[in-house]
Amino acid sequence: MEDGRELKKRLRQECLEKRAGLSQDEVREKSERIMARLFELDEFKKANFIMFYVDFKNEVMTQDAIAKALSMGKRVAVPKTVKDEGLWAIEIKSLDDLSAGALGILEPTKLENRVDPEELDLVIVPGVAFDRKGHRLGFGAGYYDRFLPKLRPGVKKIAVAFEVQLVDSVPAEEHDIRMDAILTEEQLISLPND
Ligand SMILES: Nc1ncnc2c1ncn2[C@@H]1O[C@H](COP(=O)(O)OP(=O)(O)O)[C@@H](O)[C@H]1O
Ligand SMILES: [Mg+2]
Repeated sequence: MEDGRELKKRLRQECLEKRAGLSQDEVREKSERIMARLFELDEFKKANFIMFYVDFKNEVMTQDAIAKALSMGKRVAVPKTVKDEGLWAIEIKSLDDLSAGALGILEPTKLENRVDPEELDLVIVPGVAFDRKGHRLGFGAGYYDRFLPKLRPGVKKIAVAFEVQLVDSVPAEEHDIRMDAILTEEQLISLPND
């Protein structure tokens, strides 16, 4: 018998493999389509302060979108995972405020620019896999599950993902936080959230 954790682990491996199978050109082209759609959403247009993430490996690419949002005058924060603390939202003023940390992942360097999650108007959430009910599978550390409840009520959590990351069902547990929408290169899945 498989419990939720084992199922998640297996699904995580399968989905990471599928995503790794996308070529760099595919990742770039699909990411551009996803981000173009994001910028058209009312929730995005209305938001003054947006939390993005910085992509690595074959995640939906965000750096062009971050630069564009900044140039539009929006405030931008990105996550920094702090061991034993959780996920911090750090405001950046430019992509130059990022540098490669452990594992080569770009991270914000100015930790003094940490912001209160209550300041954020919108969060763009990465993930390994999603189902059509808004359930999310992450990397398995639960960082976003612990961070997202700190947002103001009503602040939208929009996941961005490639179609290959959509699965029939993510074995969600009690602590898993659901997305308000999932945006792929083909569709916007909007979820009525309580
Ligand atoms: N709100 C929370 N409080 C305490 N622990 C949590 C919370 N959310 C998640 N966790 C823990 O984090 C671990 C990973 O969570 P999981 O949902 O499997 O990962 P992910 O969301 O990254 O795929 C789990 O063992 C879970 O108990
Ligand atoms: Mg989770």
